[in-house]
Amino acid sequence: MIFDSLLGLFSTDMAIDLGTANTLVSIKDKGIVINEPSVVVVKHQKYAEAKVLAVGKQAKIMAGKIPRNMELIRPLRDGVIADFDITAIMIKYFIKKAHKRSAFLRPRIAICIPHGITGVERRAVRDAAYSVGARDVFLVEEPMAAALGAGISIHSSTGNMVIDIGGGTTEIGVTSLGGQIVSNSTRVGGDRFDKAIIDYIRIKHNLYIGEQTAEKLKFSIGSAHPIEGKSAMVKGRDGAGLLLEKEITSQDMTEALAEPLREISFSIRTVLDQIPPDLAGDIIDNGIVLTGGGSLLRGFDKYIQEHIKLKAKLCKDPLLAVARGTAKVLEDKKLLYSLSTK
Ligand SMILES: Nc1ncnc2c1ncn2[C@@H]1O[C@H](COP(=O)(O)OP(=O)(O)OP(=O)(O)O)[C@@H](O)[C@H]1O
Ligand SMILES: [Mg+2]
Repeated sequence: MIFDSLLGLFSTDMAIDLGTANTLVSIKDKGIVINEPSVVVVKHQKYAEAKVLAVGKQAKIMAGKIPRNMELIRPLRDGVIADFDITAIMIKYFIKKAHKRSAFLRPRIAICIPHGITGVERRAVRDAAYSVGARDVFLVEEPMAAALGAGISIHSSTGNMVIDIGGGTTEIGVTSLGGQIVSNSTRVGGDRFDKAIIDYIRIKHNLYIGEQTAEKLKFSIGSAHPIEGKSAMVKGRDGAGLLLEKEITSQDMTEALAEPLREISFSIRTVLDQIPPDLAGDIIDNGIVLTGGGSLLRGFDKYIQEHIKLKAKLCKDPLLAVARGTAKVLEDKKLLYSLSTK
């Protein structure tokens, strides 16, 4: 016990947002020191185990252009852990990288995990953190971390609604008096937007494009509402195998994104349906706070406003909210013991 509190004086505690698209690590007094894509490139070998070649930013640079004997792996998909071992390797890599930037002595680590992961997966995440020397590991659920990171005072008696649109999932939570009143998680997020763009362009324009191209297109001309006169030239392959370039408009993007956006608005309605009537007034007054990278899609806030008939606004730095919220949980003993599981 005394030894543990001594360690506390010297160690640097760490908060990790283990996202399906991006992993962020923040350290007390330093803020976010790691912000990298959750991807790993491995090289398959004939007579030995696959070798990890690159993790994070370095791996993402190689995406879409890697030779056949290598593979780009996104170990977390659709808000669940698709590859156990690679997830563990990735967590260890990021923790070690964060250590290099600070004194490291058996830190306490809080990890924000996707809502849908199973007990076995939770253990895998926890074990990975322990194996690189953590003294204590706390697992935090995403909606509460998002609410705290967005600056919502979760302890107040007023109800607040937060929606985090990540890469793999959309998590919806309603908080009041420090707890979660209702929550919902759906496997629609930025990745599904990209997939919808790929499918639409293939069917409507007979053009095959990859995930990287679809995401870039979403950033440049993607919108929940069509933007007049906005288009981009896109390179890909047609059904007959010819390489070619076609013009894709913002209108195409809006049509492609209609279905996943409808699914998100349907889940929000499901949550609204379960809200105790006494909290309805608070949500009407406070509106909905949006966090996560997916909320940066052009016109997303307006779309929610129109379809849900409630005010909706993006928080400051939506991509950083969950990491900041997880750090807040770690720094506040009361929050740590009420919002995390060991
Ligand atoms: N400007 C933007 N416009 C549209 N989408 C964006 C923008 N910036 C980021 N995104 C999307 O946000 C997603 C990543 O968001 P975020 O980092 O919050 O997800 P995550 O936390 O890793 O995922 P999850 O919470 O589901 O585990 C990606 O799908 C990315 O394409
Ligand atoms: Mg997230």
